[in-house]
Amino acid sequence: MKSDFERTHTIKEALALPSGTKAGIAGWIVSKSSIGGIKFAMLRDGTGYIQAASKKDRVSENAFRAFEQATRESAVGVSGTIRDDKRAPGGKEISVSDFVILAPAEPWPITKSAVKSSGSFLYDNRHLALRGRKVSSVLKIRANVIYATFDYFVENGFTLISAPTIVQNAVEGGSTLFELQYFGKKAYLSQSAQLYEEAAIAALGKVFIFQPAFRAEKSKTSKHLTEFWMIEAEQAFANQEKNMKLQEELVRAMAQRVLDHCSEELVILGRKFKFPENPFPRISYDEARTIASRSGVDFEWGEDVPTEAEKLISKQFEVPFFITGYPLSARSFYHMTEESNDKVTKSADLIAPEGYGEIATGGQRVHDYEVMMKRIRSQELPTESFSWYLDLRRYGMPEHSGFGIGVERTTRWLCGLKHIRGASLFPRTISRVTP
Ligand code: 4AD
Ligand code: MG
Repeated sequence: MKSDFERTHTIKEALALPSGTKAGIAGWIVSKSSIGGIKFAMLRDGTGYIQAASKKDRVSENAFRAFEQATRESAVGVSGTIRDDKRAPGGKEISVSDFVILAPAEPWPITKSAVKSSGSFLYDNRHLALRGRKVSSVLKIRANVIYATFDYFVENGFTLISAPTIVQNAVEGGSTLFELQYFGKKAYLSQSAQLYEEAAIAALGKVFIFQPAFRAEKSKTSKHLTEFWMIEAEQAFANQEKNMKLQEELVRAMAQRVLDHCSEELVILGRKFKFPENPFPRISYDEARTIASRSGVDFEWGEDVPTEAEKLISKQFEVPFFITGYPLSARSFYHMTEESNDKVTKSADLIAPEGYGEIATGGQRVHDYEVMMKRIRSQELPTESFSWYLDLRRYGMPEHSGFGIGVERTTRWLCGLKHIRGASLFPRTISRVTP
């Protein structure tokens, strides 16, 4: 069907027009209804939602028939007049003068009964299910977390870098590496860009990076993905105290941006979070053990804080907080230890409150060549693939520190999601590599 439909406004723009203005909008049909002789369709175009109202005697026969025939999720074009209407969601509607189906949709498969029939239905059909209001709200909040990061780092003199994701080094231990064949050699998907950042600080001083990280996590929990996006930052001439202040500022910038730009999305998600004022609470690893023990979860000094304990501790806080001073035995090889105690690292995890758990890990790095050499040897890491990393310590490596914060974990906390997969467009988990 040929039509002279012209898209003149997005829905967001149309909603800002004065009553009586003519507009052409394009979008997808979210739902349809009718009251008396008037037919309604709710339209969505990614910028907003608007109700279209069609009266038989006001439009051509063709247009009225197209309106009637248009199925849910069909892409349609509507020409008409914007009118104030208190009953319409958003206070305005478009009164239809012409209507065309731009791309028809088959019967929409995401039905209540289909969703009920299988626990994985929505994620098996993520390519369609992501059109929902809640999913798009999460995606917008996730985007704003990233925008806040770029704004913050650029304003504060950090340079953006990129690094390879096909690597030979295990940054965070060998047990979660995805192995791949690289022209007859073994290579891995990167767990973290930290080691490359450490090389870059000698050229750029302060750097940040935003790219995917991969973990062959065997754990089937609500906070683990196998592929996720990580924001990492590294600064030369900065100790762990400075590193924690940087994380506080960044997380506040993220929370502020979400409050400023995503208030509607938070309402749709039914989410309220407490704004994290400065400074964030801090507890030591030893205090964390005591708190967990009081709630009935004990763990040995030297172990990583178990997920269950972390959750219990996190539930006692309303804003993100640090757990400081992790034992070296629970940390990766590069962590610097306290001068007074070589079993305790200058590192911290940033824990989101309300049970969400760890969102960032950071720390000061070993910058001394001999100490790093000993670490690499004692942990039986392949000296050959770490030779370049060691080399950095031979050519003017000062005190330095950094951290990595997970984009989906942060989004999950800000959105109040039960499971981290909801914070990803197409989540990858131990049991999912499609769609
Ligand atoms: O705590 P991690 O393993 O620390 C590092 O990789 C450091 N090298 C970062 C650095 O200092 N530059 O990972 C950092 C963050 C975690 O706190 C978490 O938010 C996220 O990355 N993360 C995951 N997110 C989703 N699924 C997983 N399996 C994750 N593993 C880590
Ligand atoms: Mg960690």
